[in-house]
Amino acid sequence: MVQFDILTLFPGFFEGPLSESMLSRAREKGLISIRIINIRDFTTDRHHVTDDYPYGGGAGMVMKPEPIVRALSELKETPPVPHIIYLTPQGSLFNQECARHLAQKERLVLLCGHYEGIDERVRLHYVDEELSIGDYVLTGGETPALVVLDAVARMIPGVLGNEESFRNDSFYTGILDYPHYTRPEVFEGESAPEILLSGHHKNIDEWRRRQALARTLKFRPDLLEKAPLSDKDRRLLEELKREIASGDDRKE
Ligand code: ADE
Repeated sequence: MVQFDILTLFPGFFEGPLSESMLSRAREKGLISIRIINIRDFTTDRHHVTDDYPYGGGAGMVMKPEPIVRALSELKETPPVPHIIYLTPQGSLFNQECARHLAQKERLVLLCGHYEGIDERVRLHYVDEELSIGDYVLTGGETPALVVLDAVARMIPGVLGNEESFRNDSFYTGILDYPHYTRPEVFEGESAPEILLSGHHKNIDEWRRRQALARTLKFRPDLLEKAPLSDKDRRLLEELKREIASGDDRKE
């Protein structure tokens, strides 16, 4: 069970995604709990102001520290102690390893920034970790919070239903996934690979591994530097590279 508290200025943003499919089922099964907290509820002024002009001038607005800190302090009044994550393009890059690590925490707070971001003093003294979901800038931290929530939730035992399914995932294995086929056997004149219909599991596993390595070599060769590879994988990769060099890589 992981408890997620999402701090946002736009609580409505989460209604749709959290009421559909796996995340909604995981909530119903009690495998995750999600609370959406409106930062605006922690303002004390008449106009419920959450942002202000940046000191020093410049474009955009900055999220005021007080409402965020009030919200965080209230959250911290009840155990377990939360791990506080701020979503920002300035954070370290979120990946599968990070998702696996966070799935082991009891409680995560996802703080969604807006405008030019939050006051630096909140960042420095209240945030445990800063995460970016990629090298591009979004309109706010809500989409990144959903991305992190989704990736972490599916690492929690029971959420996927089929316990094994994330173990074959791209990135969980360190390389890209193999291709998938289902019925019909022939679609628009193209047959599913014969080997997948053979029922010979050892050959199927070997074919899938080769395909996964070939895709990774083609689209994400950077992953091969860190991926756990067997001697056999390395031999296969050498073979694949030779095929590419000789222009013979499209035979399958
Ligand atoms: N807020 C805006 N863009 C973001 C990104 N790429 N990752 C995390 N938070 C963000």
